[in-house]
Formats: sequence, structure tokens, C-alpha cells
Amino acid sequence: MPKILVTSALPYANGDIHMGYLVECIQTDIFVRFLRLIGEDVIYMCACDAHGTPIEINASRRGISPRELVEYYHERHREDLARFEISFDEYYTTDSPENRRHCEAIFLAAKDKGHIFTQDIEQYYCENCKRFLPDRYIRGICPKCGAADQYGDVCEKCGATYSPTDVIEPACALCGAAPSLKTSTHYFFKLSDFRDFLVEWTATPRRLQESVLAFVRGWIDQGLQDWDISRDGPYFGFEIPGETDKFFYVWMDAPIGYIAATEHYCRGRHDRTVEEYWCNKDSDALIHHFIGKDIVPFHTLFWPATLKAADYRIPDAVHVHGFLTVDGKKMSKSRGTFITARRFAEFVNPSCLRYYYATKLSDSIDDLDLNIEEFAHRVNSELVNNITNLISRTVGFLNKRLDSRLGKIPEDAAALIPQVEAAIVRARGDYEILRFGRVMKEILQISDLANNFIQQREPWALMKSNPEDSRDVLTFAVNCIKAITILLKPVLPSYCRKVERILNLGDLTWEDLRLDLQNRQIGQFEKLADRLESDTLGKLIAASRDDLAGGIAPVAPEVPEFGAEITMDDLGRVDLRAGKILAAEEVKGSDRLVNLEVDLGRETRTILAGIKQSYAPADLIGRTVVVVANLKPRKMKFGTSAGMILAGVDSSGKIGLCELNPPVPPGTPIH
Ligand code: 2FM
Ligand code: ZN
Repeated sequence: MPKILVTSALPYANGDIHMGYLVECIQTDIFVRFLRLIGEDVIYMCACDAHGTPIEINASRRGISPRELVEYYHERHREDLARFEISFDEYYTTDSPENRRHCEAIFLAAKDKGHIFTQDIEQYYCENCKRFLPDRYIRGICPKCGAADQYGDVCEKCGATYSPTDVIEPACALCGAAPSLKTSTHYFFKLSDFRDFLVEWTATPRRLQESVLAFVRGWIDQGLQDWDISRDGPYFGFEIPGETDKFFYVWMDAPIGYIAATEHYCRGRHDRTVEEYWCNKDSDALIHHFIGKDIVPFHTLFWPATLKAADYRIPDAVHVHGFLTVDGKKMSKSRGTFITARRFAEFVNPSCLRYYYATKLSDSIDDLDLNIEEFAHRVNSELVNNITNLISRTVGFLNKRLDSRLGKIPEDAAALIPQVEAAIVRARGDYEILRFGRVMKEILQISDLANNFIQQREPWALMKSNPEDSRDVLTFAVNCIKAITILLKPVLPSYCRKVERILNLGDLTWEDLRLDLQNRQIGQFEKLADRLESDTLGKLIAASRDDLAGGIAPVAPEVPEFGAEITMDDLGRVDLRAGKILAAEEVKGSDRLVNLEVDLGRETRTILAGIKQSYAPADLIGRTVVVVANLKPRKMKFGTSAGMILAGVDSSGKIGLCELNPPVPPGTPIH
């Protein structure tokens, strides 16, 4: 029996898990649990994606190290995903020694074989922030439509894509300064060497969905661009061997995180090794990835090619799903439809989401809509009124009136058995090809059939004339419940565990799918699922809207390390003065900046301060603050700032100005 390894994409450790990522994890988890149910030897590997510029910047904004930020979210991811019963065998991190080792090994192997070259490239650099600026960290005017304040690679107004050097009036997104072009040597992976391999690999049957194959082939035919796999510091990632201050691009080490997670999982387990999954290219382990449609090129071009270059095992299948929309629209912070897993679980039982997503999942890459009204309706009419009600009325009656004892399947139910069996066969086929929505229909058919049988035979009426007939009718229903439970186990694990307990059965597997329960004792009914009230969902949306009003999710307060020691002379070079704010105005187009006129005694200066999130301009007038008076004026996108005012910024971004209270006259030196 071949070993199977299944993965979900690795979420960035830069925020909480949201409803979109849950689509992917629930899809993968249902598949993995199905494989376990039919007896396959399967492991489910995942990790948080720890590296890259946004994590480094987010951490520095909060005054903590990237590693601290990653640890914080890593733990929250684990908690949240466990609430949704995602059954990872490993949830590791890409910032691990195993990952560094495999990343270096893959890079060096590719280099040895001549698939790596270096080339100088010119890129925007911010002198003020002392960093190269990735495309997303450039803001400016769209060269196509003239819209202001657009990203360096794409215009959100007109949809045009372009290179950052085409942007008009480019500015550093972090500080607003105008960047300059600077040259640096980068490492490239020669993707073009792998054209023939990729053509063959992608076209192998069952590896990619047809629709995915169509656009992957399109990219290959357009010509494969070599891939820039390095980034200059400051960067949070692994240093490139033999270099200083040059790092592997996050997308180089992220998928290698699948391998690192596997190695970590295998450590100390004597029956399996990372070699048999990944490092031995001839092993017969099967590797399945589940990903969203935004990251297809990384998993169908770069990833197989880098593995091939280093003689690792190449994945067998990449399953792609669409994006999540909420009520037909992109998730939106202001509409309150950007919902985190954590918030959701506070209001709604996670099983309901697993149920609902299962009804919507298929092998298509079309977007999947979480329609709030349909969600409540489906949960209430299918899971509660149909399936749960079948169990509660059947078991309840047996408990109360028939000593919880089963009889035999009545003869007039015999004709229904082939229908149940046929539904089981279809459900298995649908599970195998990820058509979970169809599986759910099969399950409901069995439930309908049992409910109808009870309705026709009226066991409550039979009770008076012939209690044994009544017992037999319910025995058929219990057998249907057992089949439903097994079929539903991959979707609703904890719900089904309860049903197993209610029926007095152990851990059921696919092999137990026989209608063979008779003449035995069942257990007592216990509550399985509640109806979803519509105001619950309203409250969830309202809470999600509030969540985001507060800005970035707060990190537990951490006090950063103190800086390197300085002397009195060093300190003396900073000329701090009392400054009285005479005027304050919003800066149009900026959500951070306030334009201040500050009286410094000898003169009045214009200072642009990034404090708008905590202070209304009108509220600033008249305050005496601490100003760095000898800072070289800085040209920013919105004008020149002739100084800086001091303030504290907490981990959630809240700002507190250093104020002189009682005030001293403007221009007074601060010691
Ligand atoms: O797009 C993302 O969210 C990435 N963090 C996914 C990485 S998947 C894998 F390649 F590591
Ligand atoms: Zn900058």
C-alpha cells in the first residue's frame, strides 16, 4: 500500500486564519479523513509560512522581532484550525532548521547542475528606510489611467499591470520618500531549462484539473521566464549560502516547508522517514497538494522544477479550488464579511461551516459563495431538520418506548436496501474525485429514504398493535443512520463520534458500511446540533466589522530589547526642542499624515507627522511637543517635512505624543 502525503497551502504567520483559508483546509481535511476512513496510510502536513517582507515590516512596526510575530500567529493558527477539526499530523513552521537545510540542499544541487545564475538588476531603493522596495511597497500614479496612490505593479482602478519603474511620481509606501534606482546582484533559477519536463509533468492524467492544465500550458507556451529567487536585506528569511545580507525569496523556501514539516513529523517515528516521501525520487509515496487558484504557477511550474533540479520526488497531483466570496462579493472589511475563524467559532458551531462548505465543494476552480441566508437555511433544513431529526426521533423512540433494543430489518424494507447501497457506491466515487457536494446529496437521499419509511410505517401507531413491528421499522432506520454516520465522518468528525456513542458503536470505518445492526442494545440520545438563528449571523457580521475598525489584530504586548549603548556625545548630536503646534490639518490622500505648523521659537516649521490614526488635527493645536530640530528635511510624497515630533507607538499602532506639560516656551532645548 503506497504511503500518501497530503498538504494544504501554508498560511502566512502574519494574521489570523480567515474564512477563505478554511475552504482550503476543510476541503483537504475531508479528503484526508476520507482516505483514513477507507484505510489508506495517509499523513496531512502543513505549516505556517514565516518569511518575507510583510512579516518583517509588520514585526518592526510593532517593535517585536519577526520570530516573535511568527510564534504568536503560529500558536493562534494551531488553536483556530483545531477548533475547525482540521486534523493535521503536523503544523510546523517554515522558519525551522529542517527547512533551512532542505532549502540550501535544493539550491546547491540546482547550482551544481548549472540551473542557477546571477545577474545585476536595478530596483527601487528607499534611502530613508534603507531598503529595496518590492513592487507592493511602491505607491504612485498609474501610468495608464492616472489614478493616484496605486501599487507599484498593478492599478486597482483600471486593472493595468506594469513595472514599478513605469509608475509616475513613485514613493516609498512605508515613509513616503521618493525612491531611487539601485543595482544589486540577484540569483535566478533557470526555469526555462525545465520546459520539456514541465510539459510532460503537467499533462500526466489526473495531475491537474483540465481547466488548470489549460492555463498552465498557456504560460509554458508563452515562454518560461527565469525566476528571481533572492532578496536583499533587511529581509526575514534564510541567507543564501556564501552570501551576506542576501536571502532566499519567501516563495523559494515556502513549499520546501512541506518537506521540513514531513521531516519534523517523521523524527522519532521508526516506521517512516522523510526520504521515502520526498528525498528518494523513486519512492512510491503519493503527494497531493491542495491550493487556491492564486498560487498555481508556484505549485505547477517553480515547485516541480526546483524539486526536479535537486532530484527530489515530484508531487503527483495539485488540486486547485476557487476563491471564497461572501454573499456573492469579495470578502470586505467594511461590509464585515472579512471574517476570521476565531470570530466565527465564537458565534457559530464550526461543524455547521464544515457541513455547509462540504455541500458547496467540488473539483471545480469556480469561486465558492458563502451565502449567509443559504448557510442558515441549509444547516437548519438539512443538517438539523433532516439528518439530526432522523436520529433524534428514531433513537428517542427506541430509548423511551422500546428499551433501546433493536429488532431486525423488516421485509418491506428489503426493497430499499439496494437504494442505500447504490448511494454508498456513488458517494465513494464522489469522495475520490473531490465532489463532496454530491456526496452530501447521497447522504441526504439515505436520510430522506429512512424518514419516509418511518413516516409511512408510523411506528408510534404500530406500538399499540405490535411493538415488535415498530422495533423493526426503527431498526431499519438505525441501519440507515449508521450508513449516514460513516459517510458523514470525513465532514463532521465530532458530530459522528457522538452518533457512534449514541448507537453504542466504536470507531466505524468504511468496511463497516453494511446494514447489519440487529438484536442489540443502543445507547441514549444526546444533543447533536442546534438550529442556526439568523440574528446569530447578523451579530457575527457586526463583530467582524468592529474587529477591523481597530486596525491590525493586537499582538500580546512585548517590550522590545533596548538598543546598542551610546555615549553622551552621541545623544548630544540630537537637538531636541520644545515646539508649540500652531496649526494642524489633514493631508489629503494620506490616511496617516497630519500637516503641522510648529513654533520653534526662532522659526516656524512645517512637519508632516504620521499620527492621524490617534489624533484629530483640531485636537493637536496648542500642544507643546518634543521636536527633533536638526533632522535633515525629508522630501515626501505629500511635501517636505522639516523635522520630526517624538511619540510612542504601541503594538496595535496606537500613538501617544511626547508632550511637555506644563509647557515650556517654544524653542527651549530638551535635556
Ligand atoms: O499565498 C500564500 O498565502 C502562501 N503563504 C502560500 C504558500 S504555500 C507553499 F508553497 F508554501
Ligand atoms: Zn521609505
